[in-house]
Amino acid sequence: MVPVLLLIALATLATAVVLRHFLPLLRSPGLPKGSFGWPLIGETIAFLRPHPSNSTGGFVHDRIARYGTVFKSHLFGAPTVVSCDEELNHFVLHNEERLFQCSYPGPIRTILGESSALVVTGERHRQIRAMFLALVASTGLKPAYVASVSESARSVVASWRGRDTVTFCEEARKFPYKVIMEQVLGLSPDEPVARRILVEYQTFMKGVISFPLTIPGTPFARGMKARKRISDTMEAFIEERKKNGSSKQGVFLDVLLANKDLSHDDKVAFLLDSLLAGHETTSVLLSILIYFLAKSPNIVEQLKREHESVRSSKGKEEPLTPEDYRKMDYTQRVVSEALRCGNIVKLVHRKALQDISFKGYVIPAGWKVLPILGAVHLDPSHHVDPEQFNPCRWEGLNQTNSKSFTPFGGGQRLCPGSEIVKVEAAFFLHYLVLNYRWKLDGEDVPMLHQYVEFKRGLPIQLEPL
Ligand code: HEM
Repeated sequence: MVPVLLLIALATLATAVVLRHFLPLLRSPGLPKGSFGWPLIGETIAFLRPHPSNSTGGFVHDRIARYGTVFKSHLFGAPTVVSCDEELNHFVLHNEERLFQCSYPGPIRTILGESSALVVTGERHRQIRAMFLALVASTGLKPAYVASVSESARSVVASWRGRDTVTFCEEARKFPYKVIMEQVLGLSPDEPVARRILVEYQTFMKGVISFPLTIPGTPFARGMKARKRISDTMEAFIEERKKNGSSKQGVFLDVLLANKDLSHDDKVAFLLDSLLAGHETTSVLLSILIYFLAKSPNIVEQLKREHESVRSSKGKEEPLTPEDYRKMDYTQRVVSEALRCGNIVKLVHRKALQDISFKGYVIPAGWKVLPILGAVHLDPSHHVDPEQFNPCRWEGLNQTNSKSFTPFGGGQRLCPGSEIVKVEAAFFLHYLVLNYRWKLDGEDVPMLHQYVEFKRGLPIQLEPL
């Protein structure tokens, strides 16, 4: 009898808490239309259901049909305004720290660490971001850096010689890993420390995209441990570098170590971030390119003509230069189209710092705001036949960043790595289309979970040219 009474008391209490929490929110005038779903979990499970990356997914699609491109929901434990509207997305991204603030869910912050660029706000964000901008400036389109990216792309593609099939997602990781390791730490990926970091990093990544349960043995808990081990390895590496100095010129670690504004923890977090942000996203972009191109032989032919023309003016073994990159117009359109259809970063997390009115909607202070970047990329009023992979749509258009094309976010948090990625993707395509024909070894669709994933790792069959 006592447990039954206890249950009734708990249920009454829970109902009272839920009603107290939800009812005033539902009644606020000017709120976008929408529903809150279940108490506490809200609609998070339906929202996170995986879908092909060149579609908005059932949840967003249904809500847009029912309520329009701005709607309310309850996601990640908070009342939320979801925006699939290019104007509101732009407004949110461009009012960072004034009206909105970056606000990733607790589990993401736990696993990335409190010093991650994605997590920090205010002055600390400015300082850490400045380091990333310095990293990008140290590479830019400088001939030595461009030549080393070219060489890395060449060597990864060359390593497939004699193989009929490869699991592309694995191969795609090697190239940006090589670039970022050499650039930031001055390490070749074959050195034992770099190999150790890669193994730990893969466990860490599984944690980042897993369900956030800190119980020992779960992927999340293993991911957190792997993060700690990478941090320890980075720390040991930093100490060793401080003692013995760098044997190579132009390694970014030396710039990082000389920075007086950042704490030791910030520096370790910077190294982790550059691996996570600079390596995983780029390899996903390469996989998406391979996937869509495998289905578009005409586009591959046109790409090949462009790269044959680039190569015709130079020796077979000569690395690519910044001038070569500037000649790759069609390639840039292909990359932009892969970014639009791939939606590698589907959304960004923000919260409203005060009550905000925009286009007749009210966003109450403290609410979460989720600009869905991908929904605008797939909106037929901005992109004709949006589900089609069609690089020609970019002819004569701005491909850097516009209100309807924001694969790299925008405003104060615009991705600092966008140019690095484009050079890497273009050079990789150069060596690929000049050396191989490929087709998919069975269907394997890019699926958007929290992150884009190919279930089978994207196996492809290769035919040398
Ligand atoms: C295809 C590849 C990439 C995509 C699609 C991408 C996308 C994004 C997006 C959408 C954001 C904004 C997050 C937000 O506003 O909350 C972001 C931020 C960031 N990205 Fe990238 N990124 C890519 C590659 C890279 C690379 C190569 C680097 C390496 C330098 C990098 C470093 C960062 C950093 C440090 C931030 C945080 C910036 C800040 O908060 O100030 N990303 N990225």
